Amino acid sequence: MEPKMLASEASDFLKVTLPAIHKHLKSKNLVYTKSQNKVYFGHSTSKQIFKLAFRPTCWSWQNLKGGVGKTHLSFATAIRLSLYGARIGVIDLDQQANFTHACGINAEDKPILIDIMRDNLNIEDHMVKVMDGLDILPSRIDNAVLDNIFAVNNLPVDRELKKRVARLKSKYDFIFIDCPPSLGATVSSASLAADYIVVPVDPERFSLLGLNVTLRELEENIAKRYEANLNIKIVFNKYDGRTVLSHQVLTSLVKDEDYNKRLFKTFIRTSQDLPNSVAKSKSIFDSLRSSTAKEDIDLLAREFIEFTRINNQIEATTHLDNTQEQSNETAEIM
Ligand SMILES: Nc1ncnc2c1ncn2[C@@H]1O[C@H](COP(=O)(O)OP(=O)(O)O)[C@@H](O)[C@H]1O
Ligand SMILES: [Mg+2]
Repeated sequence: MEPKMLASEASDFLKVTLPAIHKHLKSKNLVYTKSQNKVYFGHSTSKQIFKLAFRPTCWSWQNLKGGVGKTHLSFATAIRLSLYGARIGVIDLDQQANFTHACGINAEDKPILIDIMRDNLNIEDHMVKVMDGLDILPSRIDNAVLDNIFAVNNLPVDRELKKRVARLKSKYDFIFIDCPPSLGATVSSASLAADYIVVPVDPERFSLLGLNVTLRELEENIAKRYEANLNIKIVFNKYDGRTVLSHQVLTSLVKDEDYNKRLFKTFIRTSQDLPNSVAKSKSIFDSLRSSTAKEDIDLLAREFIEFTRINNQIEATTHLDNTQEQSNETAEIM
């Protein structure tokens, strides 16, 4: 995988001129590539360009229903955030291990959450590097019995994952938990470890039902039982403007006050680029061509940044010389 942040995208985000970005890349000797008349770079250079500071947060991606996009959206959003210079640590909780496979990792000989819990290992010592800015605690089928481990050992659902996530917060800006489609003890533990719970929904018939049951379980059972304050967000996925169903489901989310206040402004359109890139063990951001999937995930990632950044736009751009006069000169050098 070689995901790319285009210099033009950085200039758009930072609201500085493209030559100002070019100039900074050159004057600071940052690593970048020029290809097809485009300048792009990866995580390490992004850190120097964006200089974003984050409040470390944990985001648990969950929905009782499978196939709504938990893995594809969390994977693409994680990659995009790493391209803004954020450090991402992922915990794959799903025994199907789709996130792990998307990263091209085989977890057969690596500790997974069930080993960490059984042997009381330090989770931060077993995060596997996927690429600069992205590490993962992978998963495999053995995680299927995690709920039993909670039950047999009478583990505290409200503390078991929270204490491990707390350790990861000193190392990562965003901790993502990709959950299986269940509401057992393990997923409840993830809900209680998370600062934000992201529930993807799609326009399929039973998706809203899955959302309803998930919300009810989270709010009426878990939040009350553990006296927790859960911050639940909804992201609408697989929007297809050509279908009536897409329109109907999106309208019902927007019109319902309880859903609307939780809804991300961005909704993700159906795009074959998402499954296609994962099938090729790549991310949508490996490609240089523009696509709706890239646009949508970028906007979603920007919402994540808005929620968690602790420096403002001006502080983040003071290192960039944005004066037009000097910038034009450097534009020619590039
Ligand atoms: N925006 C999208 N456009 C097209 N296909 C999508 C989109 N989001 C997810 N998919 C497809 O839907 C299926 C389920 O997605 P996945 O992320 O595995 O769901 P979950 O993790 O919730 O089970 C996959 O085949 C994936 O390729
Ligand atoms: Mg999944």
